[in-house]
Amino acid sequence: MKNSYKNLIYLLLAIFATWQAWELSRDNTNGAVSSTSKIASDVGIDILQQGGNAFDAIVATGFALAVTSPSNGNIGGGGFLVAHTADGKSVSLDFREKAPRLSYQQMFLNENGDYDRTVALESHKSSGVPGTVNGLLKILNDYGSGKLTLEEILAPAIHYAENGFIVNTTTAYSFNAYRDQFGKDNGTKKIFIKENEWTNGDVIVQKDLANTLRLIAQFGNKGFYEGKIADLIVEEMNKNGGLITKQDLLDYDSVYRAPVVGTYKDYTIVSMGPPSSGGALVIQMLNTLENFDLKSMKRNSTEFVHLLTETQRLAYADRATHLGDPDFWNNPIEMLTSKEYAKERLTLISMNTATPSSEIAHGTWKDKESVETTHYSVMDKKGNVAGITTTLNLSYGNKKVVDGAGFLLNNEMDDFSSKPGVGNAFGLIGFDANAIQPFKRPLSSMTPTIVLNNNNEAILTVGAAGGARIITAVLQILVSILDHGLEIDEAIDTPRTHSQWLPDQIFYEKESLSKKTIQELKELNHTLEPAKYSIARSHGIQLKNGKFITGSDKRGSRDGNQASTY
Ligand code: DON
Repeated sequence: MKNSYKNLIYLLLAIFATWQAWELSRDNTNGAVSSTSKIASDVGIDILQQGGNAFDAIVATGFALAVTSPSNGNIGGGGFLVAHTADGKSVSLDFREKAPRLSYQQMFLNENGDYDRTVALESHKSSGVPGTVNGLLKILNDYGSGKLTLEEILAPAIHYAENGFIVNTTTAYSFNAYRDQFGKDNGTKKIFIKENEWTNGDVIVQKDLANTLRLIAQFGNKGFYEGKIADLIVEEMNKNGGLITKQDLLDYDSVYRAPVVGTYKDYTIVSMGPPSSGGALVIQMLNTLENFDLKSMKRNSTEFVHLLTETQRLAYADRATHLGDPDFWNNPIEMLTSKEYAKERLTLISMNTATPSSEIAHGTWKDKESVETTHYSVMDKKGNVAGITTTLNLSYGNKKVVDGAGFLLNNEMDDFSSKPGVGNAFGLIGFDANAIQPFKRPLSSMTPTIVLNNNNEAILTVGAAGGARIITAVLQILVSILDHGLEIDEAIDTPRTHSQWLPDQIFYEKESLSKKTIQELKELNHTLEPAKYSIARSHGIQLKNGKFITGSDKRGSRDGNQASTY
């Protein structure tokens, strides 16, 4: 057979296989796992098939992501869980990193008092005390089915670290893109740089990480926060000017927090409260948008983007002043998420012109004064739903591996406001609420969110990566599903815009706005800027008519939908 015919047949077979996989991934009724790594999603499905529940599955997926999605999946970072149990309870767990006891407010300012981006993002000082291991183990212990042991939950992650996993196109591209930065750290270099460039199909083995995971499987929290791994973390810090001490590790504990809850039309929105700003802002913005007839506004039309931008401007102005770690700061959550407050702030929105951000400040409440990240989720057949957003902050965190322990460290300390009014890596500004203090958790934008129907059943779990852009992405996805009737995969793929009060700009994805809309928005006095990188990357699962539909952002993925269902 001529080569060109053979190639055509292979191509047709490949198209058929892709179509079949796509069909299978849409029509499933037993359970679903959505994550950035197909291998990790399959690990979760395998746990469900062994009789585990969504919580067993999400923990196994989380540890697997630390191996197969090292730019964001982690054991050296932190995150948040938002879940809804089959018996109708909403839960959120904060396993965000904490500032070490030796941290101090001006630690990222240079001798001129200016924010030093390199120290804040690339040094060992940029690492907060990791929370992921503590958080995942707590989830398993408190909500797991009890049918699987910790060893069984960790076995797949250990397997892929010990024997290696096959690198896909996305991961190979990412490893190559960060090659220079990996080269600056001995521990990182040994694992993530190989002689030639990485290509799809290569295998990466992470023996040290396998040993670390084995210690966790054997000793639980003590396998990470005490003993050999704690020694290695502290040694890494001491050698390189980092701040984390043995006592910091011993003291770390994740905390259950009341989720923030709001309503939007007939739905209940359950999301993450402080130290994340995400949930409060999403609910605040939905409360504002509820006063408009969004159904009649075309997605990404001039009217829609104008309203969205004005709504976001108000919410992010509040974020900068009002939100911080609840153990240190009195967050006015009741105010921010109340329908009355949204109505009061609404008076600042004109549908005829953009209000300059310089004229918008945070709100106050007259009556009640007191008061590269990754999202993965699991839904099981019984009705348990769990969503986790976790991060090392930037891709691969500060790009430093704890030598001998094989895992990357976060650079989450940059999420604090290092200097009042000066933007962090995401251009987010803040003041006292989010100033650096020992033991405090930096304010996050991570927004794991669950939507409940009026029978108190979870119908949707969604979240995103992308710093400040996470919150506006989750908002737009919710509107696309709840107002415009899209399914989650289309809702995630729909092009997005983003604004965050300061800078006073609308960032837009190329396909989101027509020339005409751009012109019309300019006429309303908006400043527009094409987004240099994607407006967040989102993952989630929707339950519709008894079937699980997975959503997996094509932004940042060269390998298609990485979710699994059965
Ligand atoms: O917690 C936060 O808001 C940030 N550390 C998230 C960072 C992030 O999403 C980077 N991902 N692309």
